[in-house]
Amino acid sequence: MNITIIGTGYVGLVSGTCFSEMGNKVYCVDTQESKIQDLKLGKIPIYEPGLEDLVVKNYDHRNLFFTTSLQEALKDCEIVFIAVGTPMGEDGSADLQYVLDAAREIGEIMQKPLIVVNKSTVPVGTAHKVKRVIQESLQKRDLNISFSVASNPEFLKEGDAVNDFLKPDRVIIGTEDKTSEEVLKELYAPFGRNYDKIITMDIQSAEMTKYAANAMLATKISFINEIANICEAVGANVNDVRRGIGSDKRIGYSFIYAGCGYGGSCFPKDIRALSKIALQSGINPRIINAVEEVNKEQRKILAKKIIQHFGEDLRDKSFAIWGLSFKPETDDMREATSIVLINELVTKGARLKVYDPKAMEEAKTNYLKGVPNITYASSKYEALKNCNALVLVTEWKEFRSPDFDEIKTLLKEPIIFDGRNQYNIKRLQRMGFMYYQIGVKEC
Ligand SMILES: NC(=O)c1ccc[n+]([C@@H]2O[C@H](COP(=O)([O-])OP(=O)(O)OC[C@H]3O[C@@H](n4cnc5c(N)ncnc54)[C@H](O)[C@@H]3O)[C@@H](O)[C@H]2O)c1
Repeated sequence: MNITIIGTGYVGLVSGTCFSEMGNKVYCVDTQESKIQDLKLGKIPIYEPGLEDLVVKNYDHRNLFFTTSLQEALKDCEIVFIAVGTPMGEDGSADLQYVLDAAREIGEIMQKPLIVVNKSTVPVGTAHKVKRVIQESLQKRDLNISFSVASNPEFLKEGDAVNDFLKPDRVIIGTEDKTSEEVLKELYAPFGRNYDKIITMDIQSAEMTKYAANAMLATKISFINEIANICEAVGANVNDVRRGIGSDKRIGYSFIYAGCGYGGSCFPKDIRALSKIALQSGINPRIINAVEEVNKEQRKILAKKIIQHFGEDLRDKSFAIWGLSFKPETDDMREATSIVLINELVTKGARLKVYDPKAMEEAKTNYLKGVPNITYASSKYEALKNCNALVLVTEWKEFRSPDFDEIKTLLKEPIIFDGRNQYNIKRLQRMGFMYYQIGVKEC
């Protein structure tokens, strides 16, 4: 099939590349000239395991094209996906300007019938707005070209996005007509060869499914973090409690790891957006609001523990920060917990030495630009030199089994604040570390 993807970010680039991998001819369009030029040279603007090889291969095989011209991309196109950002607006609701701009551009350019599929995460009713905007653009051109809209929210996880797209748990397709449903089912059939993963429904339910999925996952995180804080207060160990409850099949082990809160490009904005959607529909979203409130506090927990240990004045203290990205295997720092922690510590006068395997450039050029008292270390061990403590924020694999003797030698004091409960308490105790976890009394 001939496909166009508007927006070449985490979702658009991965989706376009994976569709091309299945033999479709795919045009990826972006307004950022430099991004498109880099992609043509095989330079991938984001870190996503396995993506680079697939992009280069399919570009070389002429299945995958990159352009800034929507006109060029829509020439032979049958299905166009909108995969642009839907950031948090000022009032917390999803900002639809990029989605509606893309819709307007489609209406201004299309020459023949199309299926327009919205892949961005958007409030219920957006597909109909997209339809209206395209119709208005066509009317201005005095044209009557048939098109249909559909919703196909994306569930990939950054850090494992290629795998998730190629082997999805499910594909949600929301349509208003049988023809589009059949075409989209055919497009996705190669991604579910061993069993049918496609779930079809109306457009509104498809749009809502994405928010409900993210809200459920964020709820699990805030739930276990609340349990962790209670554990700490009553002298229980949340790591044991997790094993105890996870063994119940109705609960399961995933997404119940206590930690220093969720971040990222999706959960914070989608939770806020869902809360807005509910309020605008006359529903008081009590659970959704509590999930966000718990998370806001949880993101401060490492700073609180550090201040409890060292006192309010951190001017003569320095800390090694391991991990900046919002989760491992990505360079994405959008809404990362590290930013909250770093700002809290710097405000108290602390000096920080930070290290992340992939997100250092993002930090320097965007998210921590201008933040004082930060040194960027060239390795995890270099970050430790002469620091008062190590603070683990993101659980990258290279932080999982570090050389604790080396850590002890390099730090001024053997103290670790672990925001992801990665290490063996008894071992660190034996080695003479003061070790703080989340949801466990310090030892
Ligand atoms: N990142 C994720 O893990 C993830 C997962 C599932 C769903 N989503 C949703 O998918 C959507 C996209 O997210 P993302 O993380 O890929 O965003 P992103 O910010 O990484 O990428 C968006 C891209 O769209 C481009 N763009 C904006 N307007 C355009 C236009 N008119 N024409 C062409 N290009 C345009 C931007 O330049 C940018 O490159 C969001 O709604 C998000 O909530 C994201």
